[in-house]
Amino acid sequence: MGLPDGFLWGGALAANQAEGAWNEGGRGPAVSDVAKYRPHVDPREYAVHHQHTLESIAAAMADDDIAYYPKRRGIDFYHRYREDLALFAEMGFSVLRVSIAWSRLYPTGEELEPNEEGIAFYLDLFSEMRRLGIRPLVTLSHYDPPLALALKNNAWVDRGTIALFERFSRTCFERFGHLVDLWLSFNEIDGIIRHPFTSGGIIDETVEGSLEQACYTALHHQFVASASVTRMLHEMWPESEMGCMLTMLTTYPNTCHPDDVAATQAKERLLYLCTDVQAGGAYPRLALKALEVKGIAIPFVDGDVELLREHPVDYISFSYYMTLTESVRPDAERTPGNTVLGVKNPFLPSSEWGWQIDPVGLRISLIDLYDRYGKPLFIVENGLGMRDELTEDGRIHDPYRIDYFRSHFAEMIRAVDEGVELRGYTSWAPIDIISASSSQISKRYGFIHVDQDDLGNGTGERRRKDSFFWYQKVIASNGADLA
Ligand code: BG6
Repeated sequence: MGLPDGFLWGGALAANQAEGAWNEGGRGPAVSDVAKYRPHVDPREYAVHHQHTLESIAAAMADDDIAYYPKRRGIDFYHRYREDLALFAEMGFSVLRVSIAWSRLYPTGEELEPNEEGIAFYLDLFSEMRRLGIRPLVTLSHYDPPLALALKNNAWVDRGTIALFERFSRTCFERFGHLVDLWLSFNEIDGIIRHPFTSGGIIDETVEGSLEQACYTALHHQFVASASVTRMLHEMWPESEMGCMLTMLTTYPNTCHPDDVAATQAKERLLYLCTDVQAGGAYPRLALKALEVKGIAIPFVDGDVELLREHPVDYISFSYYMTLTESVRPDAERTPGNTVLGVKNPFLPSSEWGWQIDPVGLRISLIDLYDRYGKPLFIVENGLGMRDELTEDGRIHDPYRIDYFRSHFAEMIRAVDEGVELRGYTSWAPIDIISASSSQISKRYGFIHVDQDDLGNGTGERRRKDSFFWYQKVIASNGADLA
């Protein structure tokens, strides 16, 4: 009983939220560089799609401010990664999930040759991880398509982006494949439906026709690109593995009224659409029908069906933060979750940002996914965003974070005991970074505190929180000691 030997423990980051150095080393602008911090915004607003217009993008790009565009500065991981990796190694990490900024290698996405300065940075990063015994788990696309592609042709809406992504991926496999053997194609691939600009470089006002159709077109292009680079990886590095990545928004019926149950079932069908395609190899008939009813057509071209069928992913990864419920009652109370507004569950507590805390939901999610696909799973994001206080003793006491992880680990281990095949766990994020949805750093997730406020003031100093030492013990005991 308990976790198997060789279980991978670590943390997860994304380039656009951690690296900073947005205009250094030959990097081109990414869509994340125009994400603006909006103080005094109700957390609920972060859960709904925030539109970027040509005007807001032009205004952002005419300004080199890094206070209100926090993803441009991140936590300066670009310059401080050695120090950060040393702290991760001290916690005992055997894996670290990072992403590669596409525009660091191909500044506009369209160059024929990669930017060697960008290559040098990632080579150094992955070599240092290997030197410390930390296995890199690398996401090819995590919310940062090159801005030039978004402005030119709404990035992923254009089928031509598949070939550009293949070029970028080939470079990654060629240049880093000797150091990296665990890959993920698209972070939270389903997210393109909820936040088209961040995931897919889609600018609403320039879309011809329906935005929803454009999102599903772009999603299909990402599915095809993912299958294509999975084939490429297997040809180039037969031992390496490619995973898909889903936002696990597990949803319960709000009541046992059959209408609520049916509404939940319909929601789940779309939730699982992405894993059905990426792990199962085909669009399910019922999901296609549901899209057709909404007037949405998937733009298949010759060869797509075979490509998806013949090149599914090797493992399924997902983020898990919270669960929601579904109700047909229009007046049902809603609460924000991870880029989504859902119906509140009266049995669950929530964080200040409204995300409901549900450890049992993690077990349910693991069992559902394993039961459905029978492929190895990897939890690549899970954590609690909270404000932390630096106390007079110069420490950060964060029992709430320890409680969150303890309860989630207990359920994760229980799922493994019940038979789920789980490869590893990476917390989001092991060090405080810029929030994807709110661009705040005060929504802190880390075991390591970063001295920076929401406008970027601070020394950037790293400090171990109480949870740092707790996680270190958990890892050392392979999950046996959660005390
Ligand atoms: C996931 C994303 O959805 O949630 C991360 O993959 C993100 O990029 C994480 O940071 C937590 O969300 P947020 O908005 O609190 O940063």
